Amino acid sequence: MPAIAVIGAQWGDEGKGKIVDSLATQPNVVACGRFTGGDNAGHTIKPSPNEPSIALNIIPSSIVTGKPSIVGHGVLVNPITLYNEIEKLHGLGISTENLSVSLNSHVIMPYHRLEDYCLEKCKGSESVGTTNRGIGPCAADKANRIGIQMWELLNRELLSERLDFVIGLKQPLLEHVYHWDGIITDEKLRTAIGGYFEGHKIKKDAILDDCVALGNKLKKYLKETRELVNKYIKAGVVILESAQGALLDPDLGTWPYVTSTNPTIGGLLIGSGISHKEIAYVLGVMKAYTTRVGGGPFPTELKDETGDRIRKGGNEYGTTTGRPRRCGWFDAMPVNLAIDENGIDGLALTKVDVLEGIEPIMFCVRYEIDGKPKNSIHSVGQNCLGMVKPVYIEHRRSLQEYKGELEAATAHIDILSFGPGREETRYNLSDELRNLLY
Ligand code: IMO
Ligand code: MG
Repeated sequence: MPAIAVIGAQWGDEGKGKIVDSLATQPNVVACGRFTGGDNAGHTIKPSPNEPSIALNIIPSSIVTGKPSIVGHGVLVNPITLYNEIEKLHGLGISTENLSVSLNSHVIMPYHRLEDYCLEKCKGSESVGTTNRGIGPCAADKANRIGIQMWELLNRELLSERLDFVIGLKQPLLEHVYHWDGIITDEKLRTAIGGYFEGHKIKKDAILDDCVALGNKLKKYLKETRELVNKYIKAGVVILESAQGALLDPDLGTWPYVTSTNPTIGGLLIGSGISHKEIAYVLGVMKAYTTRVGGGPFPTELKDETGDRIRKGGNEYGTTTGRPRRCGWFDAMPVNLAIDENGIDGLALTKVDVLEGIEPIMFCVRYEIDGKPKNSIHSVGQNCLGMVKPVYIEHRRSLQEYKGELEAATAHIDILSFGPGREETRYNLSDELRNLLY
């Protein structure tokens, strides 16, 4: 039995969490996992109309189904967020017995979050608009081979030595390269990490004590997840849940306005440790319109009342940061790029209900530069995406027909979602996907 990959086909926040939740409840599915991203991601699930919705940042959406849920080594893990999430689930009466977190996940440290904050400040008007979760600096330390992995939290002596070395590098970086003034103006960030700094100084002992305490609390969840995923794949279907969206990929997306781990199919393979031969189906998730958080080109952005209406109707405010998301019309160009680069077999279309009552609905089928048609982002060149003029089709008929037109412009739509609840989902599964799930 193989794996189904679920990938965001836009700039993130496509509703992957809800789609994974509905797939995870199907009979053949034995486990789900997250294998890329970190707590920059946010997914909201609503198991039933009477239950409150649950927002998670690290733990896969499948945890509410009771099926084994894995956080693979490709995820950058902030142990504070992870522990708080586990506690939150327990508070809601949801068991985490079936949660496993990779021993080899890289740890997001308080100094990573501060570095993220300082670097964004230095960039000024060129800032990426990150989630301030320390993703970039943690990924950089991983690449630089000075990162700390989860298993190291279990050994105080070793961790102490490692922190001495790394903090020895970070301290002058913060003070003399970023010229950090010792002040964190962002209140949320200050509350989260303020206790780990004194003036300009990183408080190593506070970090060490808390990391060791968290390591002890999280110990029972830490596993060799690579082996685990491969074991589950032999027993049934495993869902690989990506984070973010294809256009936020640092290699394939709208660089430099991207995240720092690969949310595309390659990232899922590397972050889980399974063979590409196990991937039986790639499901792309896209919204009936487009959103983006942070900076970067966004050709179909609506800076008008319609944009405000979509933002309000779709509750387009970040799960992680609360920031209002930039909203715009559906754009087939990024979705088609995601389809090509990830080998997407079918799509899930979400938030169709949000467009109800908006007329006309527009969707972009190609771009123009200087009056010349451009039929793909490749032909535009990612650096020129800010200069394109979107060419729209105007739509005045039913949402059902809108779906048909979107399919014609992109790919087969397997799942249609018109609300946050599990019951607000319609399936039109391809034979391939149906055979995998049932
Ligand atoms: P989910 O999983 C939307 C964006 C940030 C910023 C850029 C880099 O909910 O779809 P980072 O903190 O990763 O260094 O920020 O990436 N970003 C997301 N946008 N959804 C997400 O995740 C995102 N995770 C990161 O807004 O522009
Ligand atoms: Mg999100």
